[in-house]
Amino acid sequence: MALRDFVNPNIVSLTPYQPGLPIEEVAREQGLDPGEICKLASNESALGASPKAIEAYLACATELHMYPDGGAWEIRHKLAEFYDLNPDQFILGCGSNEILELVGHCFLNETSSVVYSQYSFVVYQLVAKLFGAKGIEVPATDGLGHDLAAIRAAIQDDTRIVFVCTPNNPTGTMFSAKEFEAFIENWPQDVLLVLDEAYAEIALGSDIKSLQYLSHEIPLLITRTFSKAYGLAGLRLGYGISSPALIETLSRARQPFNVTLPALKAGLAAIEDQNFIHRSQDHYSKSCAVFEKFFKKYDIPYIPSGANFILVQTGNGQAVFEALMEKGVIVRPMATYKLPEHIRISYGTDKENQKAIDALIQVLSLES
Ligand SMILES: Cc1ncc(COP(=O)(O)O)c(C=O)c1O
Repeated sequence: MALRDFVNPNIVSLTPYQPGLPIEEVAREQGLDPGEICKLASNESALGASPKAIEAYLACATELHMYPDGGAWEIRHKLAEFYDLNPDQFILGCGSNEILELVGHCFLNETSSVVYSQYSFVVYQLVAKLFGAKGIEVPATDGLGHDLAAIRAAIQDDTRIVFVCTPNNPTGTMFSAKEFEAFIENWPQDVLLVLDEAYAEIALGSDIKSLQYLSHEIPLLITRTFSKAYGLAGLRLGYGISSPALIETLSRARQPFNVTLPALKAGLAAIEDQNFIHRSQDHYSKSCAVFEKFFKKYDIPYIPSGANFILVQTGNGQAVFEALMEKGVIVRPMATYKLPEHIRISYGTDKENQKAIDALIQVLSLES
């Protein structure tokens, strides 16, 4: 017997997460100048990060020999002030992905199940598999959004977690406050509802004010991140918001010092720079209009999106992805999400958006 024969079967059956391709790799493989490549593949911030966050990041360079504050006191208090909640309602993570994994640590095992929508963030099924829980994938609506009634109906006696996401990655679809309220009515007390709001600060046209539901006496965890609108994806900083009791449970599974010092410092400064968020919202709403106009002009089917990306049906997504890559535009093919006809394009700067549109015109042989 070799060590590999003893690998946890939950791990053996896992398909590792496939991230968007890094610029350096595409430059190497396509023989392109990295400066010429635009990466529109991972829903990162088009405007970089807040200058104040960058300043705070640089300023902590002389403190790098010290461990960060394991309890994240400052940023939890800042978030509490910002949202008018209590500091003990927040847990910080190495990206919101870590928070999604912590719920698995706390609530899942081989006897439990997890419910999530088809065409939703792939990490939900990864978390279910990691802990040997059964994943129950609920068919999406015709518009590729969450079918909340069907998700609710899919809950079994052994279901411990339901993941929902708005705006949803990779479709950009959203559900309304009214739909969400119907969804959570008489919510079972033994099922944790995780509302993934990674794109909350963008959420173009959304009417959900999710924090108010924290007082509804249901087991609700809201997850948010500094990776998207705040532009701190490289630092890895996300958080969960819930009841103090649930936060305390999740904290037990957290590793000491799970969040780095620069992430804590930059995150703190980023919250204070809401002007940056407003500028970003404005930019994404304009970018959305630019792409929608283009798709409408050429009759290319797309899914209306509330996030900083858009899912578009180009036909043969893998081939289109490869052809765009040769032109220095990295997007995300969607075959791993079982949408082989689609690609997902994250919004970039105005220049990058135009480069993507020009490249699509050539790749799809459209008349310009
Ligand atoms: C819906 C959703 N949730 C969570 C995440 C995880 O983000 P992070 O771990 O960077 O906070 C992402 C990242 O793409 C996402 O799209």
